[in-house]
Amino acid sequence: MSHSIGDNAPHGGTLINRIVSPEQRQEFLAKADHLPVVPLDDRAFSDLVMIAIGGFSPLTGFMAQADYETVVTDMRLANGLPWSVPVTLSVDEAIAAPLEEGTLVRLDDSSGRFVGVLELTQKYTYDKVKEATHVYRTDEEKHPGVKVVYDQGPINLAGPVWLLQRDPHPLFPTYQIDPAVSRAQFAAKGWTTVVGFQTRNPIHRAHEYIQKCALEIVDGLFLHPLVGATKSDDIPADVRMRCYEIMVDRYFPQDRVILAINPSAMRYAGPREAIFHAIVRKNYGCTHFIVGRDHAGVGDYYGTYDAQYIFDEFEPGELGITPLKFEHAFYCKRTGTMATTKTSPSTPEERVHLSGTKVREMLRRGELPPPEFSRPEVATELARAMRAPQGV
Ligand code: ADX
Repeated sequence: MSHSIGDNAPHGGTLINRIVSPEQRQEFLAKADHLPVVPLDDRAFSDLVMIAIGGFSPLTGFMAQADYETVVTDMRLANGLPWSVPVTLSVDEAIAAPLEEGTLVRLDDSSGRFVGVLELTQKYTYDKVKEATHVYRTDEEKHPGVKVVYDQGPINLAGPVWLLQRDPHPLFPTYQIDPAVSRAQFAAKGWTTVVGFQTRNPIHRAHEYIQKCALEIVDGLFLHPLVGATKSDDIPADVRMRCYEIMVDRYFPQDRVILAINPSAMRYAGPREAIFHAIVRKNYGCTHFIVGRDHAGVGDYYGTYDAQYIFDEFEPGELGITPLKFEHAFYCKRTGTMATTKTSPSTPEERVHLSGTKVREMLRRGELPPPEFSRPEVATELARAMRAPQGV
């Protein structure tokens, strides 16, 4: 379990930076009106950002066919490096047809803003059902990740990308801590071991419990909520971030925790996404990564611990980040503490755990989740957000 300094190298060895220099920026701006335009949806835009800031190191662009195929079938890039989720720019035929391989393409975000450039090296078709069954372990369209794949265009555009500029996040500028910066912050704090935590839900006591159990054995905790695209019934990122601010302020030692946003989109790919989430946190400088129950799961597509078992499909050391696996945590009435079945002799009736759906139902009825499930300040914040005009 111990890591020494230097163990936390980025995936593939080098932290990628694809944000243009001021000179390159002027060059691209001068060319902008003459380049063919490809619009990016929110996921593709967040992928562009993640590539540019090094969160997806060693990727320097959207995947070419050789990488795509081996990622889908073998969870590896063509060079053998572990990688579990395709990162593609998938477009309609009408957009792809006029584009020529070997040329530059202008990338605009969903509001039509010029945000990046793609050096188009390859256009290729791909098999959506194959991608779904391998990556998402289901071909059902009602799976939210599969639906995105089925709805997206049938042609992948591949090649290196550049991000025109790294804008501050409109909602969370102070929590926008990119990999080069998080790495520097960990070093400045003297942390040699850092555990990363992925989440897309408001923080509850089981989260807090596994975060703190993990923190007992490492130097620092990197709380890294995902703020990119999520499905519409997930709690919005601004509400989740307020809950985190409250928690960090009142319930965590300030000098052991860094709260930062993860700009990625959620894929809901369960086990495959757990590997992906771990690799991304490795790029941010983490040495360890928390994987609890049904990590990145949705509905009942994945077994409770499938996202933990998948780590065994790699040789020790291949991923370069250590998963810290936690059983389903709950409040145990018998012992009066948070626990799991590893640490508590409770009967099922003595355990308090609520699903996200259940909590949302309670909030909608105007009820607060109990203190055994959620810290009261967080429950109050969720209830407040629920009453706000836009709801949660
Ligand atoms: S996720 O899609 O980002 O995985 P969520 O925000 O709910 O969803 O989970 C964040 C992390 O906490 C994941 O590693 C998940 O497995 C873990 N987790 C969530 N709830 C529990 C729980 N009750 N017991 C153990 N681990 C949990």
